[in-house]
Amino acid sequence: MQDKIELRKISHHFDTTAEQIILFRDLALEIKTGEIISIVGPSGAGKSSLLSIAAGLEKPANGSVHFNIDGSEVDELALRANSGFIFQQFHLMPELDALSNLALPLRLKGNRNAFNIAAAWLEKVGLQDRAKHRPHQLSGGEQQRIAIARAFVSEPRFIFADEPTGNLDMKTSENVAGLMFDFARDSGCGLVIVTHSMRLAMLADKSLQLSDRKLEAIK
Ligand SMILES: Nc1ncnc2c1ncn2[C@@H]1O[C@H](COP(=O)(O)OP(=O)(O)O)[C@@H](O)[C@H]1O
Ligand SMILES: [Mg+2]
Repeated sequence: MQDKIELRKISHHFDTTAEQIILFRDLALEIKTGEIISIVGPSGAGKSSLLSIAAGLEKPANGSVHFNIDGSEVDELALRANSGFIFQQFHLMPELDALSNLALPLRLKGNRNAFNIAAAWLEKVGLQDRAKHRPHQLSGGEQQRIAIARAFVSEPRFIFADEPTGNLDMKTSENVAGLMFDFARDSGCGLVIVTHSMRLAMLADKSLQLSDRKLEAIK
């Protein structure tokens, strides 16, 4: 059975002292497991906000968001427990080595096999020789490979990636994006990726553009 996130007629805005910033109105979006969706659009269009709403981290000003896992509607906490996140700035724990960064989400869930599973993922991203290295000893691309493995290590149903290649050069971006897409296809999770790269966006099953407060299919 496919798990699903459904955003229905959602609108969102931020109120600042000077003005109201309207991000989008009456937007609809469906994200299913087994699907890769990309979102492109200019800076400030609201892509990160949309991702946060879809991931249950933020509530929209109007409209409703529904999370379906294993056939029943669940709340945002249950969705989060089944989600992985990848950010532009990697967000690894600076004081932990690569292996411990990967083991952390598993250890937090009480998994006694955390370090073995982490070691297997380290190998999958080709960094088995870097197990004892801390993030500052790794290149940006290496850090992002760890962050990708960390997102997948708990076998989440959904992965949310916000400009995951935004800090990487072209060749490294392709390598990192390739890994992410392969893992998503192999695991059958749903992947939503926000990106500035049209090339990367077009590798998704569905591509959407957020601009002028609207979300439109471009693929
Ligand atoms: N917490 C906030 N308070 C006020 N304005 C915000 C907040 N978060 C984002 N914004 C504004 O909302 C707009 C959309 O932000 P964001 O979702 O980060 O866009 P994108 O990811 O497409 O660049 C921007 O103009 C941003 O400055
Ligand atoms: Mg953003």
